[in-house]
Amino acid sequence: MMADTVTALILAAGKGTRMHSNRPKVLQTLLGEPMLEYVYRALEPAFGERIFTVVGFGAEQVESAFPERASNFVLQKEQLGTGHALQEAWESVQKTGAGYCLVINGDTPLATTEAVERLAAQAGRADVAFMTITPQDPASFGRVVRDDSGRILAIVEAKDYDHATHGPVTGEVNAGVYLLRMDSVGQLLDGLRAENNSGEYYITDLVAMAVEQGMTVEGVTCGADVNLMGINSPRELIDAEKTLRRRIVDGLIDEGVMIHNPDTVIIGPRVTVEPGAELFGHVEIYGESVVRAGSVLNSYTWITDSSFAPGCVVRQFCHVEQAEVGPDCVVGPYARLRPGAVLRKGAKVGNFVEMKKAELGEGAKASHLTYLGDAVVGAGSNIGAGTITCNYDGKNKFITTIGEGAFIGSNTALVAPVTVGRDALVGAGSTITKDVPDEGTAIGRAKQLNLKRRMKKS
Ligand code: UD1
Ligand code: CA
Repeated sequence: MMADTVTALILAAGKGTRMHSNRPKVLQTLLGEPMLEYVYRALEPAFGERIFTVVGFGAEQVESAFPERASNFVLQKEQLGTGHALQEAWESVQKTGAGYCLVINGDTPLATTEAVERLAAQAGRADVAFMTITPQDPASFGRVVRDDSGRILAIVEAKDYDHATHGPVTGEVNAGVYLLRMDSVGQLLDGLRAENNSGEYYITDLVAMAVEQGMTVEGVTCGADVNLMGINSPRELIDAEKTLRRRIVDGLIDEGVMIHNPDTVIIGPRVTVEPGAELFGHVEIYGESVVRAGSVLNSYTWITDSSFAPGCVVRQFCHVEQAEVGPDCVVGPYARLRPGAVLRKGAKVGNFVEMKKAELGEGAKASHLTYLGDAVVGAGSNIGAGTITCNYDGKNKFITTIGEGAFIGSNTALVAPVTVGRDALVGAGSTITKDVPDEGTAIGRAKQLNLKRRMKKS
């Protein structure tokens, strides 16, 4: 309902000087995802497509991180402050025909859909409403000033706070989330001045301006359960990341995922873990990964953008990137699955095996010390220890195809492009440069010579 009349605007143009980084602040990552991703996730359920983003510093970088959002980006060429960012985006928001604009700082990744909806619900029909919090340390937050009867008078930035003028600090501060009535605030925008200790146009000045005009101003206080800290420094980012990690892991445990030693497990916000999956300590899962019910991920495994079917077991110390692990597979310990590794049902990849753009068919095994790159291995085949697909000639990559039920002896080099037929056998230590027919046997190695040993005479 709210989405019909409210358009959201994210302020994300700042450099984030206090991060000491060349990367735009909103692209700093938490649990492997850019800060801005969290803000989008919080807004999406309420606003869908009606989300504008003000970008400026490193705009191209932000655009390439969120190409699907770029059509709703507004460029703030010079970052003259949060009030200026709002001025620059105003027309775009107005064109949506919205009655209200919800503005949120892009550096608040802890914001939740519920918090944003609470602001909308409690703001009533105020001309200017904003969320307030009372953190342990008011740090650099804008201070909320109320009169004796509790009515909002102003937000005064930390740098500009003067006890003589503004009175003792109460600890209540501005969280950086605002609901602005378009008609009313439209009349105030031109009046913003950069006459303060930062020399910036502050969005927060709208509060005192609205009060002065006799408009309705509402400060919506959040409960202690709402954490809306802004991220301005590495310390704040790390603290927020801790909070997010905890939120995600606790949520999954409550849903029925078995997570042992949960304080050490890291799971990104886009990961799906089904109830009935089991994870052990120090597992890290990022990106768009999916872990189905009945799969087990053991300790010290790092995973990104990969999927795990029911009944599969990943043993300790594996590195898994853009891989697909089928049902009842066993991976590791110490396996490396690189992009395009696919394991069909019941396949097995053991220690020190690396796979890249390679498929292991149903029940196929590569148990030790093997490299499978640009390869297709048929069902039930066995790849002996030390087998290498030689897929690269220094310029191009070539494919190795191994049929069903083949047996590749240990320490074999398969020089691609090459095909080993169905039910074929390759003798240990072979260098295979020619195709092996179905049911054939190939041995490609120098014949052993047994000569008499020449002993030194003493
Ligand atoms: C701001 C508020 C402060 C509030 C705090 C909450 C102002 C003046 N102050 O302070 O009252 O307590 O957030 O976290 O707004 N940005 C732009 N363009 C600019 C400048 C900033 O888009 O020209 C963006 C930044 O990228 C950032 C957000 O606005 O995402 C807030 O800017 P920041 O400099 O972090 O403001 P704070 O000093 O934290
Ligand atoms: Ca901030």
